[in-house]
Amino acid sequence: MAKNEASADPTNSPRTVVVGRATLINADCLTWMQERPPNSVHAVVTDPPYGLREFGEVEKAKLRTGRGGVWRIPPEFDGSKRMPLPRFTTLTAKEQLAMRAFFTEWAKLVLKVLVPGGHVFIAANPLVSHLAYLPMIDAGFEKRGEIIRLVQTLRGGDRPKNAHEEFPDVTVMPRSAWEPWGFFVSRAKG
Ligand SMILES: C[S@@+](CC[C@H](N)C(=O)[O-])C[C@H]1O[C@@H](n2cnc3c(N)ncnc32)[C@H](O)[C@@H]1O
Repeated sequence: MAKNEASADPTNSPRTVVVGRATLINADCLTWMQERPPNSVHAVVTDPPYGLREFGEVEKAKLRTGRGGVWRIPPEFDGSKRMPLPRFTTLTAKEQLAMRAFFTEWAKLVLKVLVPGGHVFIAANPLVSHLAYLPMIDAGFEKRGEIIRLVQTLRGGDRPKNAHEEFPDVTVMPRSAWEPWGFFVSRAKG
């Protein structure tokens, strides 16, 4: 996967907005961290991409047309239709390896920019958390626990796509009730 395919800004040119004491930077985080001095960030809180594929042009076009791709059938309840979310269950073995590679590079860079003893808080879900956690531990972070976000999805999340009209009451996944958000600390750097 080309780096800028997953980027928040395909031009890769950082755009900066100052809001009070905060500075918001729209950039590829990998490029941004490569350019930061070591030990210059005190903490990282992130809701990272777990698909990569859904941020590519092909999948974004399928989202807009409402047909095919990685997208779930949008949940509907009481006449209110929600935005379609990506299905993590469609990740192939190759794509999971690509995710592991992304988080391996990400974790090494976070370790570089973070002060020793700095914390990292990563939003995740039970289907994909290991794809981020294992590279974090391999890079030299210590897992300090998980904070559980209690959620109640409308149903299991996945109807059997393309057979959902024939089997409207069937769900192919257990209904989600919690999300683990990983909490890590950087070990002393050797
Ligand atoms: C799971 S979404 C975060 C959603 C956000 N928490 C919200 O509630 O709207 C992951 C985000 O990471 C961004 N992203 C993907 N690759 C990136 C990269 N290399 N650098 C910076 N942002 C990236 C995507 O554009 C996407 O907005």
